Amino acid sequence: MAQADIALIGLAVMGQNLVLNMNDHGFVVPLLEAGDIIIDGGNSEYRDTTRRCQDLKAKGILFVRSGVSGGEEGARYGPSLMPGGNKEAWPHIKTIFQSIAAKVGTGEPCCDWVGDEGAGHFVKMVHNGIEYGDMQLICEAYHLMKDVLGMEHDEMAKVFEEWNKTELDSFLIEITANILKFHDTDGQHLLPKIRDSAGQKGTGKWTAISALEYGVPVTLIGEAVFARCLSSLKDEGIQASKKLAGPPKTKFGGDKKSFLEDIQKALYASKIISYTQGFMLLRQAAKEFGWTLNYGGIALMWRGGCIIRSVFLGKIKDAFDWNPQLQNLLLDDFFKTAVQKCQDSWRQAISTGVQAGIPMPCFTTALSFYDGYRHEMLPANLIQAQRDYFGAHTYELLAKPGQFIHTNWTGHGGSVSSSSYNA
Ligand SMILES: *[C@@H]1O[C@H](CO)[C@@H](O)[C@H](O)[C@H]1NC(C)=O
Ligand SMILES: *[C@@H]1O[C@H](CO)[C@@H](O)[C@H](O)[C@H]1NC(C)=O
Repeated sequence: MAQADIALIGLAVMGQNLVLNMNDHGFVVPLLEAGDIIIDGGNSEYRDTTRRCQDLKAKGILFVRSGVSGGEEGARYGPSLMPGGNKEAWPHIKTIFQSIAAKVGTGEPCCDWVGDEGAGHFVKMVHNGIEYGDMQLICEAYHLMKDVLGMEHDEMAKVFEEWNKTELDSFLIEITANILKFHDTDGQHLLPKIRDSAGQKGTGKWTAISALEYGVPVTLIGEAVFARCLSSLKDEGIQASKKLAGPPKTKFGGDKKSFLEDIQKALYASKIISYTQGFMLLRQAAKEFGWTLNYGGIALMWRGGCIIRSVFLGKIKDAFDWNPQLQNLLLDDFFKTAVQKCQDSWRQAISTGVQAGIPMPCFTTALSFYDGYRHEMLPANLIQAQRDYFGAHTYELLAKPGQFIHTNWTGHGGSVSSSSYNA
């Protein structure tokens, strides 16, 4: 009997196609025996992965946790693979993984070793969170076109097709154009008939939880998750729509073409913020867990094969290749300039949308992050004063950082101050 190279358990839409893809590349299937490498390709929680990795290591089994993205088609013809875990396994599986992965540019595989323990799943989790953000940003652009500009579906589809030829060129923009122009069997557009109540499986929520846990302001993904939660209150929303008034409906009086450009730039700038925040979270997790992550390599893994694949990720790879120590994507020259060029339009799109009563949780949180991050002085001095006033939590003076002091604000304060801590 022929010796198998790899076995795969879990033959649903992606598993089945992954096996066929491996078969196409000459790798043979079944027969798993003790002492082999176990690869978990599901969306496992990264802490479970870390625990399993340690348990299996004790038993002499090499455990690899790999993020896999690309859906049904990607699994069959080239997914994005994000393996991590016990690195001793990597030389044994590298050829299989890199041959079946999606290829970009001059044939570079969208798959490389991510890092120790749960790193592969953490990176996949952040990928999914970013996917939530990208989808919500596109929805906000669609909402503005539909309800501020009053555009028809075919016309909106054309706009997305045009955007697909710009720096926004990506899988999600492309499928949005296709979805907008899709007709149901009765000849009408299908999209407006779909119930506006979004589902989720949890990876976006995990990303937001990790962001809170490690204290990283990944606000856009958080808002994207909450936007889905809000949409799921569909029945309440119908009741509220009859009771809570918004601004009076007015006809858009501005220049349509220039407003469409504003929306496009708002989408692009917000997307830059979302990826900036995602990479901030990766950096913090790497610090927490002692992982060595290759950020350019991660951008390349996401460049093709997966749901967030885009030309834009090539630029992120360039930024980290240029400076692997880059502290924040916004500080890279390319992205700094890109946001600068979008800024006026970004503010214009948001203020017009706010006036018209359109919810844009991700456009607005992205702009607030940008404005917050670039401010030399935030109003958090007042928070510190309030905390010290009511709880004697102490504060530092700008002139004397590192020295925590307490003020007798009321004239009847005691002499006890709480020890300082950061959470
Ligand atoms: C989007 O652009 C890609 C090339 O980058 C192209 O293959 C695809 O057909 C385009 N999709 C649409 C809907 O225009
Ligand atoms: C706080 O100020 C009041 C009024 O000046 C004073 O009587 C009190 O002793 C002070 N408390 C401390 C702990 O210094």
